[in-house]
Amino acid sequence: MRAYTLKNKNIEITFIERGGQIISIKVPDAKGNIDDVVVGYDTMDATIAGDGYFGALCGRYANRIVGGQFEIDGEKFQLDCNNETNHLHGGFDGFNSRIWAVTPISIDKFVQAYKLSLTSEDGDQKYPGKLEVSVIYGITEDNQFVIEYEAETTKPTVINLTSHAYYNLCGAGKASAENHKLQLNASKYTPISAELGTTSGEIVDVKGTPFDFTTATTVKTACDTDHEQINMIKGIDHNFVIDDFDGSTKLVGTLLDPVSGRKMEVYTNQPGIQIYTGAHFDGSEIGKNGAPIEACAGIAMETQIFPNSPNYAHFPNATLKPGEKYKHVCIYKFC
Ligand code: BGC
Repeated sequence: MRAYTLKNKNIEITFIERGGQIISIKVPDAKGNIDDVVVGYDTMDATIAGDGYFGALCGRYANRIVGGQFEIDGEKFQLDCNNETNHLHGGFDGFNSRIWAVTPISIDKFVQAYKLSLTSEDGDQKYPGKLEVSVIYGITEDNQFVIEYEAETTKPTVINLTSHAYYNLCGAGKASAENHKLQLNASKYTPISAELGTTSGEIVDVKGTPFDFTTATTVKTACDTDHEQINMIKGIDHNFVIDDFDGSTKLVGTLLDPVSGRKMEVYTNQPGIQIYTGAHFDGSEIGKNGAPIEACAGIAMETQIFPNSPNYAHFPNATLKPGEKYKHVCIYKFC
């Protein structure tokens, strides 16, 4: 398994060719102490055997499509259902499990960058169209980890790519991320339907709910409430609707660890961000620092189109047509 490192004078990011999986991001705190801020494993063997979504590129459709079904121009498509009755992150053979072609690339704005490429043939994962995907991982002088996705198709299809790292700014395996403060420029979110196992299609105000992160709020405070949406999935696994979405790249959220003082800002040109506190981690796997991976070991901040968008006309359009270019920018800036 080939591993690649991106670094500037402060930060070092390592990823592997399988799934473009980010296996470590080493970041100094205010005093200059370095910690690895992404959940994962101590060894490459454990990484290969372990959770294949950790730090990985997900697609063709990150997040869920209900029943694995969608329709384009009257034609129905049936994808694999790998998550109970739903399709999740591209199904049984998601982009997270593919070997990406990785090449160093020189781009002025980056201190260092790599291009990751993948061809997904027509019918791959049962989606229509041959998809050519490229993802640039770049690091800037001012500590931005930039992810730029592009894709083109030969037939109308749906697409939603994301990066699935769980961030723990205390240092993965050192403490829970539950005391992190989260701020989101999102005054609405998409609740989950227990029956569908993903968004109900509603778009609801966060005001007066535990999903109100419009001002910085401790994640534990939200997760400890008795709200039915929190109880349903034992934490947060919800899509937030970015305020004033206009397709430009803007600041959408901030994660802060009050103890180390590490702060991460998230910028994107996407309409949504999935916040996932990792409710399915049950401590049975041993992660970095020899620590069991428990719920809230880290917090995923996945920039994206909304879950199940292909089936909701009032959600952002996930369709990509021949001649168009899918362009998604996601920036994690360490401050
Ligand atoms: C989803 C979770 C899912 C996880 C799998 C996240 O993007 O929101 O529901 O369990 O991926 O790793």
